[in-house]
Amino acid sequence: MPIPIILDCDPGHDDAVAILLAVASPKIDLRAVTTCFGNCALEDATRNALQILDVAGAPEVPVAAGASGPLSGDQALGNYVHGASGLDGPELPPPSRAADPQGAVALMASVLDAADEAVTLVVTGPMTNAAQLLRDRPDLISSITEVIFMGGSTERGNHTPSAEFNTYADPEALDEVLQTGLPVRMVGLNLTHQALATQAVVDRMRAMPHQVGQTCAAWMGFFGDSYHRVWEFDAPPVHDPCTIAALIDPEVIEWRDAFLAVELDGTWTRGETVVDLHGRYADRRPNARVALTLDVQRFWSLVFDALDRLGARGD
Ligand code: RIB
Ligand code: CA
Repeated sequence: MPIPIILDCDPGHDDAVAILLAVASPKIDLRAVTTCFGNCALEDATRNALQILDVAGAPEVPVAAGASGPLSGDQALGNYVHGASGLDGPELPPPSRAADPQGAVALMASVLDAADEAVTLVVTGPMTNAAQLLRDRPDLISSITEVIFMGGSTERGNHTPSAEFNTYADPEALDEVLQTGLPVRMVGLNLTHQALATQAVVDRMRAMPHQVGQTCAAWMGFFGDSYHRVWEFDAPPVHDPCTIAALIDPEVIEWRDAFLAVELDGTWTRGETVVDLHGRYADRRPNARVALTLDVQRFWSLVFDALDRLGARGD
């Protein structure tokens, strides 16, 4: 049976690949896409999500806009990586439709209320919408299978030396979700930095005989230039689709149960995820599953298969 999911995201080049992967896979039932500030302002992320679903040939998937800023603290944006539009690179047609005016939290709640089984919440941007949903509708905790999120790191950060962007953008939101006791899986930079869109990967996309592959190759081109300019990477880590890949193929990632906390007050470390992989906090039981190792070839096979599936639909 396909896994029902809500994908909450801030597209964003790597969020775009996550959306394509979710739409393409017969193992995923994408019930809704909700958007959040993050890689760009909310209105841009929402427009981008609509355009990406048009690229994927999935205009039927509902989209609604959520938070334009964090629960508390200042707004951080990632346009320095994703460009002015949040999805710079290939020119895309304007969205074929508008977003659902009810908003992200209402859409999430309506999907969960209507579901006859628990739904997986995938978060690939700041955790703000998920936290707001659980504030407004704590009764829905039992309707959520798990929260699997791209964010944090067992090692260094990226937006700051110690904090990954998504957890930096709203650490209080992640902390609130962790406090609910919901099953949480963290896909951090330590994992996603294994998912590099190398020249061979981009060449494979560019060789695909359909527009979906060409568009994705162009996104990787812009994303790769940013990652080289900002962090001196030779190839961009495609973070967000790692969450979807883990749902499609449970063997693609190796996990470890660990105590996970997020720093809220550190002068230099706000937003850092603290992951106790070796039980050093004797009084803290594991509260999350943390991704450690990616089967890289298996991951890219999933992505290429998804692009070809979408390309075949579009032809
Ligand atoms: O730090 C990487 C994460 O922040 C990814 O989800 C990227 O899309 C941005 O949201
Ligand atoms: Ca993202």
